[in-house]
Amino acid sequence: MSEIQNIIFIGSDHGGLELKTYLIKKLHKQGYYFKDIGTYSGESVDYPDFIHPVAAAVNCGKVEKGIVICGSGQGANMTANKYAKVRSALCWNVEQTILTRKHNNANIIALPGRFIDFDLAVEMVIAFIDTPFEGGRHLQRIEKISQLKD
Ligand code: RB5
Repeated sequence: MSEIQNIIFIGSDHGGLELKTYLIKKLHKQGYYFKDIGTYSGESVDYPDFIHPVAAAVNCGKVEKGIVICGSGQGANMTANKYAKVRSALCWNVEQTILTRKHNNANIIALPGRFIDFDLAVEMVIAFIDTPFEGGRHLQRIEKISQLKD
């Protein structure tokens, strides 16, 4: 894995700013590196403006994984999943996070900044980064996600 792929892109709106700041600070101490796309202040902003750059970087292969955060996690997740090669998973516990890495090969985690314990979110992000995809039968399943019907 190249050095650039070890960096995780992270973006949020004002509803996710506090959690984003917390995650970067806590996880940096544990050796995880982030590119913070913003937002950088509590001013009300439109979440897609800060989610698109994260999803685009994952989609084009510039980075392997990203983190997107808004108040509920929903708008961030919806925006990220507009990209063909993005599989963004809205998560709220560690077990689910591990499963979405093992079974769905999620490459973005969407977090609800206003509805989650921050230390739990730290554990979830570690699980998201460190859990490998299982492949096998799950590969054929994720390939079918993009096989849209008329
Ligand atoms: C902003 O108030 C809020 O709507 C946003 O953070 C997010 O929850 C949208 O899905």
